[in-house]
Amino acid sequence: MAHVPEDDPVCQCFNVPEERIRRAILEGGLRSVEEVTEATGAGGGCGSCWDEIREILEETGGTPPRAEAPPRAGNRPPDPRPEP
Ligand code: FES
Repeated sequence: MAHVPEDDPVCQCFNVPEERIRRAILEGGLRSVEEVTEATGAGGGCGSCWDEIREILEETGGTPPRAEAPPRAGNRPPDPRPEP
C-alpha cells in the first residue's frame, strides 16, 4: 500500500505545499483563491486544487461564513396611510 506523505503539495502544477498556502493566508490576510494564486502561485494552472485552497481559506478564517446575511435595518418608517 502506497504511503501518501502529509506534505504532499496541494497544488501539483506549482508544487505548493499546504503549509505555504496557510502561511500566506495568515500573513497576507488573503481572502480568495485569486489572492492565494497571486501570493503563492497555487491554483494558477489546471485549477483542480481550487476546492482545496477554498477549504484552507475557510479553515484559516480567510473567507466569511457563507450563510451569514447582513442584519436588516429594521428602522423603516411606518407606512403613512391617509385617513379616509
Ligand atoms: S494543481 Fe493547482 S493549478 Fe493545477
